[in-house]
Amino acid sequence: MSEFIGSIDQGTTSTRFMVFDHGGNEIVRHQLEHEQILPRAGWVEHNPTEIWERTRSVITTAMNKADLGAGDLAAVGITNQRETTVVWNRRTGRTYCNAIVWQDTRTDKIANALHRDGRAEVVRQRSGLPPATYFAGGKLKWILDNVEGVRADAEKGEAIFGTIDTWLLWNLTGGTDGGVHATDATNASRTMLMDLETWDWDDELLSFFDVPRKMLPFILPSSNPEFYGTTRADGPFGGEVPLTGVLGDQQAATVGQVCFKPGEAKNTYGTGNFLLLNTGNEIVRSEHGLLTTICYQFGEHKPVYALEGSIAVTGSAVQWLRDQLGIISGAAQSEALAGQVSDNGGVYFVPAFSGLFAPYWRSDARGAIVGLSRYSTNAHIARATLESICFQTRDVVDAMQADSGVTLDVLRADGGVTANELCMQMQADVLGVPVYRPVVAETTALGAAYAAGLAVGFWRSTDELVENWQEDKRWQPTWDSDRRESEHARWKKAVSRTLDWVD
Ligand code: G3P
Repeated sequence: MSEFIGSIDQGTTSTRFMVFDHGGNEIVRHQLEHEQILPRAGWVEHNPTEIWERTRSVITTAMNKADLGAGDLAAVGITNQRETTVVWNRRTGRTYCNAIVWQDTRTDKIANALHRDGRAEVVRQRSGLPPATYFAGGKLKWILDNVEGVRADAEKGEAIFGTIDTWLLWNLTGGTDGGVHATDATNASRTMLMDLETWDWDDELLSFFDVPRKMLPFILPSSNPEFYGTTRADGPFGGEVPLTGVLGDQQAATVGQVCFKPGEAKNTYGTGNFLLLNTGNEIVRSEHGLLTTICYQFGEHKPVYALEGSIAVTGSAVQWLRDQLGIISGAAQSEALAGQVSDNGGVYFVPAFSGLFAPYWRSDARGAIVGLSRYSTNAHIARATLESICFQTRDVVDAMQADSGVTLDVLRADGGVTANELCMQMQADVLGVPVYRPVVAETTALGAAYAAGLAVGFWRSTDELVENWQEDKRWQPTWDSDRRESEHARWKKAVSRTLDWVD
């Protein structure tokens, strides 16, 4: 009997492979970063071949570290940065261009055109998403319209589309001689091309983006007892392992945080922040700038839906302090630097590098640091950066409560930034509710492992998973409500300064 489940977590800045046991404990991990290609202001690309190479490498290294073979894994799951768009040739396996990353804003004209003639409402109703540069449909249209040969090959059925899950699945199961071309319902729900009610591609939406149906993958359940496929024996696992779980990374984190009941929510702090609230089998349409999305679909069951507050820039604002401003040498140092001052000194930083996502959806916004005086230091900027993570979360929590009527009495947090204790304390202060972090903070990889393991009976039910969840630490709010509201009002004023920046 195989004792473990493997999980590939392909994120925006890095790729990791992790192995979990039945208790949801981490056995081993390996992680590698990949290049962020920034050819012009607003453009963000990844090289899909590099991502596939990194994926192979993290799998092999982790398996070797723990002395594991394919036979030790009962199944493998994949979770991925969502919306990032890849097009490749079915015959050669070669990509036509770099992947267009979810943060890329080159498709703003495509999104704006939908807003001008009333089609935006159809997109919103059917896909649950407001037309925005964020989602895959516009990126795919851009590639079809701008990269030589793609449209002709797509019409012939040779150029095919996938999000990163699909790209990895293709390579793990077949490579150049033809892998499985499939995605799961959660990833498909981020394209603006899928109908939330039928969980199938929608012809009218496809016509809005001029996308030939034959280039699209099959949509399968996130936890799939019938298998997505098996890994190639000559691939990085060195044997055949069933691939049975696929989920977009934020949905995976929701599963990893065991938010299986309607009303349960989690907030993941990665490159961006993503707050998802499970709404059960009900499709709740947002009136306050949130997305409606598929949370997960297990086997033959109807999908479970979620309301989502997506924030484009949180952890990546800390990286910006390191890479572009050079005021810290690593993310961990942001805590020490921000801790040198007891407040923000009146400085607010709105990191609207990709416009503003939820709840504003303003692609015309650009970042701003406001409230500077001669007194301001690097420490104030570092503090304002961490506070921006928390204020942006406050904005989506307010929207979520307004949309759902659910009052969050605790926030379940996970992801890299939760290692920053100061930031987590600020989060509790800004929200006025306690923040909990689980023992396994890698809930994204864990969630994909859970989806894969449920499919093969490694875990029998979600109840077993709920038993695995353990609290590591909690932060209690310390600000009084006057301070909380006045700080938030200043933040909102700073946000207003970033709008209408791009014509
Ligand atoms: O929607 C984008 C999201 O999936 C990216 O997540 O963790 O790679 O920043 P992450």
